[in-house]
Amino acid sequence: MKAALVTTFGGPDVISIGETALRDMQPDEATVRIEAAGVNPLDLKIVAGYMQQVFPITLPYIPGNDFSGVVEAVGAQVTHLQPGDRVFGRSKPGAGGAFGQRLVIAATDLCAIPPEMSFEQAASLPTAFGTARQALFDSGRLRRGQRVLIHAAAGGVGSMAVQQAHLAGAYVIGTASAGNADLVKSLGADEVIDYRTQDFRQLGVVDLVLDPIGGETLEKSWSVLREGGRIVTLVEFGIEPRNGRIGEAVFFASATPSLPEAVRQFKAGQLQIVTDSIFPLEDTRAALEKLATGHARGKVLIRTRN
Ligand SMILES: NC(=O)c1ccc[n+]([C@@H]2O[C@H](COP(=O)([O-])OP(=O)(O)OC[C@H]3O[C@@H](n4cnc5c(N)ncnc54)[C@H](OP(=O)(O)O)[C@@H]3O)[C@@H](O)[C@H]2O)c1
Repeated sequence: MKAALVTTFGGPDVISIGETALRDMQPDEATVRIEAAGVNPLDLKIVAGYMQQVFPITLPYIPGNDFSGVVEAVGAQVTHLQPGDRVFGRSKPGAGGAFGQRLVIAATDLCAIPPEMSFEQAASLPTAFGTARQALFDSGRLRRGQRVLIHAAAGGVGSMAVQQAHLAGAYVIGTASAGNADLVKSLGADEVIDYRTQDFRQLGVVDLVLDPIGGETLEKSWSVLREGGRIVTLVEFGIEPRNGRIGEAVFFASATPSLPEAVRQFKAGQLQIVTDSIFPLEDTRAALEKLATGHARGKVLIRTRN
């Protein structure tokens, strides 16, 4: 089968397209013919070799975790899926495999795609939706009526987090560049701050900050937190509490438990899925380069040609 291949660590330019064999399927697994894949910053970090201590990979490696497709075959123990089913999910980061024509994965990690959801929409969800919910609700303990500041609100995770916080009844403040303000408002933000020209520290206190940026953005965020409030960061794993305020890092565990909730919200018309761009599998390198700009508006996707 055709796949994006990494044979040496580096930037997106190390990715080539080549032929490779699919691994054997175990009795509890399914083979999925991939239709679309979602690109995440984690893919860039794995390809660069930065994640070797956390998610060690061996080369050659097929990158990509978020995918959607059609079940092609199931192992003998699999009873809840059959060939032809439309499914989506997230492979384990060390396993990768989404940027290829086929993938073998535990059948329990697959969720059915409803007819009204496209393959592109489904592939956008696993990491972004699941991380947003884990950060806001498991780590952030966000409750109705609280004020939350969501940085990078136009990005993959941010665009989901704004909607999840709004649905939960929070007052949502998002940061984005001016060109993305209308988008972030349309997702449910009550206020949008242009991080390039405005200082978000003027907005008054909040109960929770969701930080996908780190560095100076994280540092400044402490001053808008009420006492006892929380910063949940996706990128600074050494964060520590400060002046009676809590700092916690999220390490996204598994997308699988959150997928049915994403489907439920989508069917109820409560979930917008924002697409930045779609690249063919042959242009996986360009898809990763687009994401590496740090200014994707929603999700960058790969449409796999079979
Ligand atoms: N810890 C975990 O388990 C976990 C899970 C998921 C993601 N993450 C990490 O979280 C980060 C975000 O992921 P993502 O998928 O959302 O990335 P993304 O889609 O690439 O984010 C792009 C967005 O960031 C915005 N942005 C860039 N600089 C900004 C700034 N200084 N202030 C506010 N917004 C800014 C851009 O907005 P403009 O174009 O408007 O500038 C753009 O919309 C990545 O580093 C990723 O690795 C961690």
